Amino acid sequence: MKILVIGDGALGNAAAHQARKSGHEVSQTSRKDKQLIQFDLKNEQKFINIPKTDWAIIATGISGYKECEDNPESRLINVERTVDLCRQLLEQGTKILFPSSTAVFDGKTAFVKPNTPTSPETEYGHQKAEVENFLLQYPDQAAIVRLTKLLACDTTLITDWLKKLAAHEDITPFRDLTIAPVLFEDAALACCRIMENGGGGIFHCSGPQEISYLEFGHLLCKKSGFDCTLIKPASCKNFLDYCPKHCGLDSTATEKFIEFKFPVPEQIIAKLI
Ligand SMILES: NC(=O)c1ccc[n+]([C@@H]2O[C@H](COP(=O)([O-])OP(=O)(O)OC[C@H]3O[C@@H](n4cnc5c(N)ncnc54)[C@H](OP(=O)(O)O)[C@@H]3O)[C@@H](O)[C@H]2O)c1
Repeated sequence: MKILVIGDGALGNAAAHQARKSGHEVSQTSRKDKQLIQFDLKNEQKFINIPKTDWAIIATGISGYKECEDNPESRLINVERTVDLCRQLLEQGTKILFPSSTAVFDGKTAFVKPNTPTSPETEYGHQKAEVENFLLQYPDQAAIVRLTKLLACDTTLITDWLKKLAAHEDITPFRDLTIAPVLFEDAALACCRIMENGGGGIFHCSGPQEISYLEFGHLLCKKSGFDCTLIKPASCKNFLDYCPKHCGLDSTATEKFIEFKFPVPEQIIAKLI
């Protein structure tokens, strides 16, 4: 298949790598790498340089709760221009894979099912839900892939913690905020398999366990052989405006569809160190 990866951030690059590995013909956009197709959602209203492909993954946008809240341009980029781009892709016959987020839910329930009505409580979550609602009008041409926290060896959280622990400095993971982590490479694999299987509709990609940042820090520290007394538990309430109780998504249907099981935190950590 011909796959266009829009964006060369962490997920975009992982998806492009996986799609090439799976034998697909991959093109990719960037705002900074001149070797790739130049593309900026901010500058263009008509996207003239978007090639016609079988699928496009929209791995661009302003992520994060605070960034979307504070950046007055986030709605323009993440909703208005993204929907313009979706319209153009649909018109030219390109199917869309849209990475969404667990933030479309309010975090009051663990392991929400894909057909649960959305209930965002943040600007980021609202923006994702708006694009989802647009794409849900095209169930045969669009796959909405809701992702939980994605991690890789070079994710800042992991590199910062490991660097500090190696230097015998304290780390302060949150005891009252959970993740249900997924590796970037597994999210990319899931995206590829969803496209290969012609998937349309909503797909959940989540680790099977919710674990606090504190528990995750302990596992990482222990497995890496560092001194766990360097871990000083903190409360997210002192640092973040939004601290949802739950983040995990029910991924049973996706796992069946893609014939892949998302690993538990211990398995993830084994790949991170
Ligand atoms: N990472 C996660 O844990 C996670 C979890 C759930 C959902 N997601 C979703 O997955 C998608 C990709 O996330 P990521 O982790 O790969 O984020 P990322 O590493 O921050 O990548 C974001 C990409 O978007 C590009 N971008 C930002 N503004 C743009 C604009 N105006 N025009 C064109 N490109 C623009 C960035 O380009 P520059 O590099 O040039 O700035 C970068 O390539 C996002 O939609 C995110 O919400 C991620």
